[in-house]
Amino acid sequence: MIKIADNRPQPKDPGRFSKAHEFDAETETDFDDAHRLFDDLRARCPVAHSNDLDGFWLLTRYKDIADSMSDFSLFSTAVQNVVPRVATAGRRPPLHLDPPEHTPYRRAIAPLFRRERIDYWRPIVRKMAEDLFAPLVPTGEADICIDFSYHLPIHVLAEFFMIPAQKAAEIREMGQAFNHALQTKDFEGLKKTSLFLYEMAQEIIDDRKLNPRDPGEDPTSALLAARNEGEPLPEDMILGTIRQLLVVGIIAPTTLLGSVAVHFCRHPDDFTLIKEHPERVADATEELMRLYTPYRGFARTPTRDVEIGGRLICEDEPIALSFAAANRDPEVYSDPATFKLDREGEPPHIAFGRGAHQCIGAPLARLMLTAAVAVFTEKVNGFELAGPTPMTTWPEYGPYSVPVRFL
Ligand code: HEM
Repeated sequence: MIKIADNRPQPKDPGRFSKAHEFDAETETDFDDAHRLFDDLRARCPVAHSNDLDGFWLLTRYKDIADSMSDFSLFSTAVQNVVPRVATAGRRPPLHLDPPEHTPYRRAIAPLFRRERIDYWRPIVRKMAEDLFAPLVPTGEADICIDFSYHLPIHVLAEFFMIPAQKAAEIREMGQAFNHALQTKDFEGLKKTSLFLYEMAQEIIDDRKLNPRDPGEDPTSALLAARNEGEPLPEDMILGTIRQLLVVGIIAPTTLLGSVAVHFCRHPDDFTLIKEHPERVADATEELMRLYTPYRGFARTPTRDVEIGGRLICEDEPIALSFAAANRDPEVYSDPATFKLDREGEPPHIAFGRGAHQCIGAPLARLMLTAAVAVFTEKVNGFELAGPTPMTTWPEYGPYSVPVRFL
């Protein structure tokens, strides 16, 4: 039986932390509320503190967030990297380590996302998206999250980890249960499913020790074969890395595709535009990622007291970097809440973060998302909303259910 302790460093002096309550983080009800809050804060209090979710600072300006992500020695991920701090967190590389400690793990898995591997995955992911969506079309309606986007990333990750169909089905089920427990704040369920995913990660490691595969194709074999200053990577950290990879790529595509479906219901012209210009599907997907960035924010804690935007933030205080808010900053993007295919002269979005921890799975994520948008716009003529769209909460953004009728 695996035991995973919360062995991340604890904040040194929480008694010094801010008690200012400048916004409520837990009152949201609808699809637009999070962005209403971000827009309001960005304009009047761009570095704001809330006592909700155990207390945290929120950065909403693109520049403040980009600057913080670029300075890993001042802004650490080791103490806490999401708001709220999740108690199931053993140290899971690479995200929970700062460079240079995190680098050997990142270096070991980076080749799995190189161009040739992504070219290999492209038709496979495309077919998975088609196989999942095509059977829904004749029924005339479906839930884009529950019937489609919950499944696509888990199918992809199961193949990516080269695990047998039976195991893939278990990961699919457990990944969904984990996702659900996270969203409903069912902490017992979260612990149980997290532990199960650790056990699954351990099984994959045990199998690869007996049956090694090509490290250029199999993430587990790549981590087992990696050497840091001539030494193998510690096995508990390999376990943490596999466990992180099993989950980190599941939730964001699910909610992002839900938001995309809501966008298409509200803006049928954008759906038609992509349908008529399939060559622009990749650009359209990037713009949808900017608009509906599926993470409200990952967190950092400063390694010393720091001033941002005139506010003093103490060492170890959690700071959520709101990628979702940064990507709609009017100082950076014209008409930031509008879908525009051509944003010449404007910087790329930061939905995948930036700097040392920038999403290593971004090329695979882009494949999934582009394939989904392509399949939607090819197979039907549009979406019409057919029910409520309940929302995920911190640290995610986006709905977890979007019932639609197909046009
Ligand atoms: C829509 C899909 C996705 C989004 C929006 C997303 C976003 C992000 C962001 C913003 C970060 C940076 C976190 C930070 O700086 O604190 C990150 C890190 C990471 N992502 Fe993703 N991600 C997605 C999908 C995936 C997938 C499919 C995988 C793997 C198969 C993946 C693996 C990782 C890993 C391993 C890290 C940590 C990298 C490091 O610490 O060096 N992600 N992701």
